[in-house]
Amino acid sequence: MGNTDKVSLDWSNLDFSYVETDYRYTARWQNGSWSEGELIESALMQVHEGSTVLHYAQSCFEGLKAQTAPSGEVLLFRPDLNCQRMARTTNRLLMPEVPESLFMNGILQTVRANAAWVPPYGSGASLYIRPFLVGVGENLGLRPAPEFEFRVFVSPVGPYYKGGGLNLIDLAVIDLDRAAPKGLGAYKAGANYAGGLLATRMAKELGAQEALYLDPAGHRFLEEAGSANIVLKMKDGRMVTPKSESILPSVTRRSVMTLAEDVLGLPVEERPVPFLEEVDDIEEFAACGTAAVISPVGKVRMNDHWYRFYGEGESIGPVTQQLYDRLTAIQKGEEADPYGWTVVV
Ligand code: PLP
Ligand code: COI
Repeated sequence: MGNTDKVSLDWSNLDFSYVETDYRYTARWQNGSWSEGELIESALMQVHEGSTVLHYAQSCFEGLKAQTAPSGEVLLFRPDLNCQRMARTTNRLLMPEVPESLFMNGILQTVRANAAWVPPYGSGASLYIRPFLVGVGENLGLRPAPEFEFRVFVSPVGPYYKGGGLNLIDLAVIDLDRAAPKGLGAYKAGANYAGGLLATRMAKELGAQEALYLDPAGHRFLEEAGSANIVLKMKDGRMVTPKSESILPSVTRRSVMTLAEDVLGLPVEERPVPFLEEVDDIEEFAACGTAAVISPVGKVRMNDHWYRFYGEGESIGPVTQQLYDRLTAIQKGEEADPYGWTVVV
């Protein structure tokens, strides 16, 4: 992407809200094959009233970000992993796989066409990219849709959680499950998020930013937050992340654990974490994801008790800070990318 005049936005004060940009990408699956994808201007979709997406939640999505590097280049972060995850989700939901060439074309063309909306380097904002796939077309009974629409839209965004950036967030364990054993927890299915709305509201009523889920079978082991995975720096120096078959395999978490091991030299473990049994061993608690980046967690509420990981007035811990710095420096092209994680748009 070359030099582009930017639209006039207060880049440094964006939050995580939809901003309508100029173009989006669409492709349709009909009679067993994909149409040629194209850029369009309308943000509206016209779908049949019987569409499976409207009744049976036959819908999945992905989320990734584009960021401007100091050189002016625009970088994507590990888009291949989003494409693979979407393929896993589509197989689980009996939807057609979006071929990698279509997925990547959709992202690249949408970002390029909306170059004026890509936040400039140094603004602290990024361009959030939302590829999604929905079942459409005439239907009534419970079966896969006859047709599917793949779309990609983008929106410039700031921090996901209110207060933003590296401020501490709080989480609350609510008496609701996000996922069922062998259900959809490990997939980025739209249905998971409708199911989580009430838990998020209840967590907010308790003064937290988001719900924290425990394992649905026994409610003993840590799972994840409503829109982010969990990483823990333990007092014994280890970096631990919950192992579970019902959490979304996060691209950010995978990257953070690699950096913890390679760059910070910490022993890393992915294993079941019984929360109440280990809570006193946790030194730093953080939520991580594309939207959340790495958000330090100040306290967690469970059974009417707040478990604190930081004292009053304290801010982000040193390990979380280093991981945040290393990760975002690679994402923004400020530091060498020895892993080949970034892709130039
Ligand atoms: N967990 C859930 C439920 C999410 O929605 C997300 C966001 O995508 C994540 C974790 C973090 O995943 P990633 O780092 O791939 O964005
Ligand atoms: C993301 O981090 O990309 C997500 O999809 C989370 C979403 C709930 C905003």
